[in-house]
Amino acid sequence: MDRNHFYRDTWAEINLDKISSNIKSFKKHLPDQKIMAVVKANGYGHGAYQTAVEALESGAELLAVAMLDEALALRKQGISAPILVMNRIRPEYVSLAAENEISITIFQKDWLIEASKFLKETDKVLNIHLKLDTGMGRVGITEEEELHDVSLLIQNSSACEIEGVFTHFATADEWESELFETQRKRFINQLDLLKKWGITPKYVHSANSAAALRKFEGPFNLVRLGISMYGLSPSSEMKEKLPFTLEEAFSLHSQLIHVKKLMPGDTVSYGATYRAKEEEWIGTLPIGYADGWQRRLSPGADVLIRGERAPIIGRICMDQCMVKLPYKMDVGEKATLIGKQNDETIEMDEIASLAKTINYEIPCLISSRVPRVFVKKGRISENMNVILNF
Ligand SMILES: Cc1ncc(COP(=O)(O)O)c(C=O)c1O
Repeated sequence: MDRNHFYRDTWAEINLDKISSNIKSFKKHLPDQKIMAVVKANGYGHGAYQTAVEALESGAELLAVAMLDEALALRKQGISAPILVMNRIRPEYVSLAAENEISITIFQKDWLIEASKFLKETDKVLNIHLKLDTGMGRVGITEEEELHDVSLLIQNSSACEIEGVFTHFATADEWESELFETQRKRFINQLDLLKKWGITPKYVHSANSAAALRKFEGPFNLVRLGISMYGLSPSSEMKEKLPFTLEEAFSLHSQLIHVKKLMPGDTVSYGATYRAKEEEWIGTLPIGYADGWQRRLSPGADVLIRGERAPIIGRICMDQCMVKLPYKMDVGEKATLIGKQNDETIEMDEIASLAKTINYEIPCLISSRVPRVFVKKGRISENMNVILNF
């Protein structure tokens, strides 16, 4: 292990080869669609820059993030591919977006009127994606009149252009969903209206991972892939019937920093909730809830040591937690909290289910305190340690 840029005994490994393989599988599955890799929230905790580069090298052509700061960070790191900010930016930052060739999302007439005050003659043309709400109920234009007014304002402006139009599904991860079909039809109707008004944007997109995996009819030419690019299924329902295998890119590891023998009656951690019934061996791992290893994972979660499951016992602390070992082991032994050791695997979905959440949330919550180690072409290519600014 290259320890140039981190010094602690806990790290996440991001296998970029798996991200590449997932993107390539999608290219085969949807040969006519362009791929927009969704790398918001630090690439769902996988590292936005590294994931973006890998996705672009593997067939993705565009990137999406949630906010302007995330887009600017990618530009600063030298990424020149098209980037879409999918959430609202403040009107006063439109020039900043235009200058950095960052496409933005619009879904309010008032916003557009306000923002036009901030666009300068000297700016590059601002690329806009219109967001339509077809049933997600989050953000997006719903009324025909507002859609018409917004489109007209943009068409009459020399400072901005409609580059794309999109919507977002609320239930694409459920196989039998009426709302999915309703949203699809509403979107197609809205596209027809735009066409009637002379607007045929370069990019028309609606599919997230779930929709892209299920395939469906419509005049769309781009898919926005997040969770599936990282190798995770959008829902347990979909996991049963995926059209191809998704390969999990994220794994989480630590090392025993202390091993001790408990005598019957000895207790472990805050609240003394765990009490040994017999003589047993206990190991301490330097990972805790400040790393995103949530308190609610104990009791319940296991770790893998020498390919065997060892349960986490007692309360998870801020920086450490304890595991019951099958037998005496040495300090320094590797423990895998998410991932594979020999024939045993702890999937992200197992941890999500114990934490009573969805797989999306788990890598997002593994905090920046945990260094990321990137594997490319089977070898460690890079480390990321936010604490030390690497
Ligand atoms: C508007 C939008 N598009 C696409 C995505 C990617 O979704 P997924 O990770 O399910 O592929 C998201 C994620 O939340 C989103 O908000």
